[in-house]
Amino acid sequence: MGIYAVTGSASGMGAASAAVLRENGHTVIGVDLHDADITADLGTAEGRRSAVRGILDASGGLLDGVAAVAGVGPAMKDAGAVASINYFGPVALLEGLRPALARSSAGRAVVIGSNSSTTVPMIDEKLVDLLLTGDEDAARDHARSAQAALPAELGQSAPSISAYATSKFALARWVRRTAVTPSWAREGVLLNVIAPGAVITPLMLGSTGAGEEPDADDFPTPMPLGVFGRPEDIAFWVHQFLRPEARFTTGATLFVDGGTDAAMRPDAQPTALTF
Ligand code: NAI
Repeated sequence: MGIYAVTGSASGMGAASAAVLRENGHTVIGVDLHDADITADLGTAEGRRSAVRGILDASGGLLDGVAAVAGVGPAMKDAGAVASINYFGPVALLEGLRPALARSSAGRAVVIGSNSSTTVPMIDEKLVDLLLTGDEDAARDHARSAQAALPAELGQSAPSISAYATSKFALARWVRRTAVTPSWAREGVLLNVIAPGAVITPLMLGSTGAGEEPDADDFPTPMPLGVFGRPEDIAFWVHQFLRPEARFTTGATLFVDGGTDAAMRPDAQPTALTF
């Protein structure tokens, strides 16, 4: 049986992922702001260092998998914090834990992105560049000034929608670039993204401002299956990506969104290689 670290383990998809791993007999080290084996704020550099230290101590320096699930939604008021939590949090954690994953015979990492990265037309290219170059202070400053420049009506229910979608976009790009580098791929550590759509969790209900579950057919983005996701729908795929048998997929983004991305961008994939 394996040993796995799960961030965001106190709620929603992270809690469901930790539960599936435990049901399958694995040891889970949960990380969250509260109610976790390791309490740490992944929005700060010190919190990330302490989370990595705590996970390495608890695992003895060998990990079979990491599920980086913790994150915040577009209702967060501070776009700078969104950049720190949603992008730098998982990136620093995964970089810090990569050597421990490489010690496993089947190291696996999965990151929770979002289908907002491809279905929200507010990706901030400058912020993408700052995130991918790893300049956290500049990224936070830019995210805040870009947020201040947005029309006030956008700021009502989703004040950091652009930083949110952009942080998840950059995260998926980081995974795609990183997963194929020798220090991951040739060490046998596989790294993939799950891009959920609307999943009923405290974060999602807070982001819609509805408080209670809305009707899928009244949702602002298309929901072809006519239902919202449940945390268990994401946990199922988290578990699949973390299994040792999942050994030939890396750098991929899997949309688990009830068909929203396909409905909004039917012809976006496949993309032909051009000369
Ligand atoms: P949730 O709010 O139920 O769970 C998120 C967990 O992350 C919470 O336990 C929270 O305490 C933890 N967390 C937040 N900030 C943290 C920090 N600075 N340090 C450590 N832990 C922190 O939300 P949900 O929906 O389960 O979200 C999981 C992931 O899925 C997030 O990355 C979110 O952005 C993403 N997502 C959610 C969607 C949805 O519809 N619910 C859609 C697409 C992506």
